[in-house]
Amino acid sequence: MIGRIRVIGIGMGNPGHVTGEAAGALATVDVFLVADKGEVKSDLVAARQAVCDALIPADHAYRVVEVPDPRRGPDAERDATAYDRGVRDWHAARVDAYAEVIDGLPDSETTVGFLVWGDPAFYDSTIRVVDALVARYAAAGVAVEHDVIAGISAPQLLAARHRIPLNRIGAPIHITTGRRLVEEYDLALGDVVVMLDGHLACAGLVDAYPQLELFWGAYLGSPDELLVAGRLGDVVDEVHRVRAEARERHGWVMDTYLLRQPTDAPVPARVGPSGPAFPATGTLSDGVVAVRPLGPGDWEVVRDEHNNEESLRWAFTDEPLTDDDARRVAAGAAVEWRRGRAARFVMIDVETGRGAGVIGVMRMGPPGIGLLGYGVVPDFRGRGFTARALRLVSDWAFREAGVARLELGHKVDNVASGKAATRAGFRAEGRLAGRLPNPDGTRSDEIYYSLTPESGATEPTEPTR
Ligand SMILES: C[S@@+](CC[C@H](N)C(=O)[O-])C[C@H]1O[C@@H](n2cnc3c(N)ncnc32)[C@H](O)[C@@H]1O
Repeated sequence: MIGRIRVIGIGMGNPGHVTGEAAGALATVDVFLVADKGEVKSDLVAARQAVCDALIPADHAYRVVEVPDPRRGPDAERDATAYDRGVRDWHAARVDAYAEVIDGLPDSETTVGFLVWGDPAFYDSTIRVVDALVARYAAAGVAVEHDVIAGISAPQLLAARHRIPLNRIGAPIHITTGRRLVEEYDLALGDVVVMLDGHLACAGLVDAYPQLELFWGAYLGSPDELLVAGRLGDVVDEVHRVRAEARERHGWVMDTYLLRQPTDAPVPARVGPSGPAFPATGTLSDGVVAVRPLGPGDWEVVRDEHNNEESLRWAFTDEPLTDDDARRVAAGAAVEWRRGRAARFVMIDVETGRGAGVIGVMRMGPPGIGLLGYGVVPDFRGRGFTARALRLVSDWAFREAGVARLELGHKVDNVASGKAATRAGFRAEGRLAGRLPNPDGTRSDEIYYSLTPESGATEPTEPTR
């Protein structure tokens, strides 16, 4: 009859990694409940058995009961809500399956143990399942004690094997899953540890952040341990290869990795959200020019719009963008969009499908104000693309993004920029003395424009999506 449930972290399956406290706890358990996940990871079942054989004294009788694990649907194609619901249903089914076994225990068996791979605090549902079991017995008037004993987790062993700390001095560590990595990656997260990654998601960051250091480890703690470290852009193919070969040999692979900026690169300050996320949008088009949210693949448009004589003449400095800078801007656009800081679009020439420029709305100053910035790649200048893109983005900002007033400005001599703004319906509001820095250290006056929905000056466009 059940009296106590112990959740015991057993590290990575090597008896030498089990803490003294966990070893002591193992020797108190009458029945271990183990999820039977089929044949695929039988090496893990064997490793778990080896821990019990090595650490439980021969005179302590115990049983291992394999409880068939309820089936889970594939995760990859589910959205976050469906994923969450799927996991919850799966937990509920597990609670039912375990309760059935526990209800049938003889009076002599009072302590039930769950062996948790690594540490129960890292991506493991056992504690939640045990909480539900304890609550279920409490509701039936049966008091069940429970405790949790820590183990060595994959990120700890990864760090130890690579002989590194997981964080920079005083900086954060972000632990996440492969399915979330690309969407949420940001240099300001600090060191990022990735677990549960079936597809080596870091490959999706190579274009934007080739300079990141990657510390990768698979089968950590086992005789088959694999380690690779190096610059992400240099080693990602090797990791792909090593991983695929290992998966072929074992039938499964469990790996964990750390991504971080090289030690000499500054950790940028995290920019907090400055408003609600901009609403998602597809392509907006007037038939000649289209705009769509800027993505990692648009980095060359970002670079080419900036790195030319005309653009650099009006810029604040005469520093061209490096390829890495342009990649970072393009790859970071989705994060800025989500944080509500900036909605950056790439302009497309509808006829050729080529990237023609960039345009963005930044949330600046009082609520409801959007500051526009734009630039066109030299090949597409003089064709009215800026005015068209300004109309498309302005209409979207007013209709869908809650913007009440749009502003833009240009250096007093940048006549072309002013013409485009006027053609898109913007009205000049004044001249701001010495507001904009020049590359030579002097400052230029700025001509400032605005547009509001009420000023009604944009020509109606019917965006197509
Ligand atoms: C369900 S989580 C369990 C994590 C575990 N509780 C821990 O503390 O490490 C499984 C993930 O942990 C990582 N992992 C577990 N064992 C590993 C090992 N031996 N080597 C590398 N990564 C491992 C992998 O990222 C794997 O996808």
